[in-house]
Amino acid sequence: MSSILRNIKGTKDILPEESIVWQYLESKIHMFFKQYGYSEIRTPAFENTNLFKRSIGDDTDIVTKEMYSWIDQGGNNLTLKPEVTASVVRSYNQNSLGKKHPINKLYYIDTLFRRERPQKGRYRQFHQFGIESIGSKFPEQDAEVLALAYNFYHYIGLRDITLKINSIGGHNTRKIYKNKLYDYLLPFKNDLTDTSQNRLMKNPLRILDTKVDFEIKIIQNAPRIIDCLSEEDKIHFKSVLNFLDEMDIPYEIDNKLVRGLDYYSRTVFEIQSKSLGAQDALCGGGRYDNLVENLGGKPQPSFGFAAGIERLILALDIDQSIIENNPDVYIVSLGEKSIQLSMKIANSLRLNNDFIVITDTLRRSLKAQMKEANKLCAKYAIIIGDDEIKNNEVAIKNMNTGDQKTEKIDQLESYFKVSK
Ligand code: HAM
Repeated sequence: MSSILRNIKGTKDILPEESIVWQYLESKIHMFFKQYGYSEIRTPAFENTNLFKRSIGDDTDIVTKEMYSWIDQGGNNLTLKPEVTASVVRSYNQNSLGKKHPINKLYYIDTLFRRERPQKGRYRQFHQFGIESIGSKFPEQDAEVLALAYNFYHYIGLRDITLKINSIGGHNTRKIYKNKLYDYLLPFKNDLTDTSQNRLMKNPLRILDTKVDFEIKIIQNAPRIIDCLSEEDKIHFKSVLNFLDEMDIPYEIDNKLVRGLDYYSRTVFEIQSKSLGAQDALCGGGRYDNLVENLGGKPQPSFGFAAGIERLILALDIDQSIIENNPDVYIVSLGEKSIQLSMKIANSLRLNNDFIVITDTLRRSLKAQMKEANKLCAKYAIIIGDDEIKNNEVAIKNMNTGDQKTEKIDQLESYFKVSK
């Protein structure tokens, strides 16, 4: 016998017990995000590689080493989406969404791919839900999305979370800051890793993302971007924080938070959970006022965030019993006539009573079928034996109380309508 084939490292099967939790969370996301006036957008699984280079940035970890890219049979350079923001903005421009609405409030649930080193909470295929609001430059837009993200985790039952927030200023602020950072880091140049030496020349801000211990020490005394903010940047940031105070949303200002993607300006944030260990970011995002224009559209200030679903599930200790998925009825059939009847009854209860109905398709014994009904936590078992068939009846057992009664087959629908 040949050996069984296995999945790719960093990918995961979502098996039925787990997919119930996914469906539950997905339904909550759809409901909650609509409460804030956001509509769903779905974009393709792959895009032109250039889209991600131009948006996420040439010197970022994602673009330099994590993208799944290939040349297809037609010579096109394609990439499996490593994030959603770039695709949403591409779609916004391509479909002239800005002409249809002055503000586009969009959300998504999607599958992403990054060739990272797999560990708890970090996979090569993973899932995000997120928001992109395109069109508003005002601080209330930042605050709305921050509140949505924070409140969603509370709503779903996560308590031990920390919102970390920073401002990295507008374009000019970052230009001034990059020069300051360069001047500070230059004397350490020979101590830096090759990657950081390269980044020092091209985009020193990226060095602040370093995970290398001795580099972390070096940047500890680096100039802070918050000290370079322009007056407008400061007013914007203060106003965002005021809105958060008004809504009683607690936050910590983290001057080292710069995020690992190049498109951000002004507000950036992450929500972290201590229960996650090393990969503690539940979600991250911020303002990106230049991306729509950089991807060929008319300038449109924007704000968004994305959140890992796997990390949410790791942080949440979901009580499966809150997820209603047990069968309403398990039909026990014994013999050919009984099977025929069980198919007919199941069909009618599913269509007319909206019931979850399970029938046995293995022709098992009465005992084995009752055992299965118990195991699945069915609310009722319907037993169709020879005697019952003769009388056009079935036996109905309430699996919680153990009570049993007989009922005419043509009365079943109305019986269950009353007793549900
Ligand atoms: P990001 O920080 O790269 O931002 O990812 C957001 C979230 O996705 C992370 O906080 C984490 O929960 C999850 N995540 C990222 N990589 C992995 C992975 N390899 N395995 C499991 N989970 C992961 C973005 O993607 C931006 N597009 C967010 C954004 C939207 N900014 C503005 N709009």
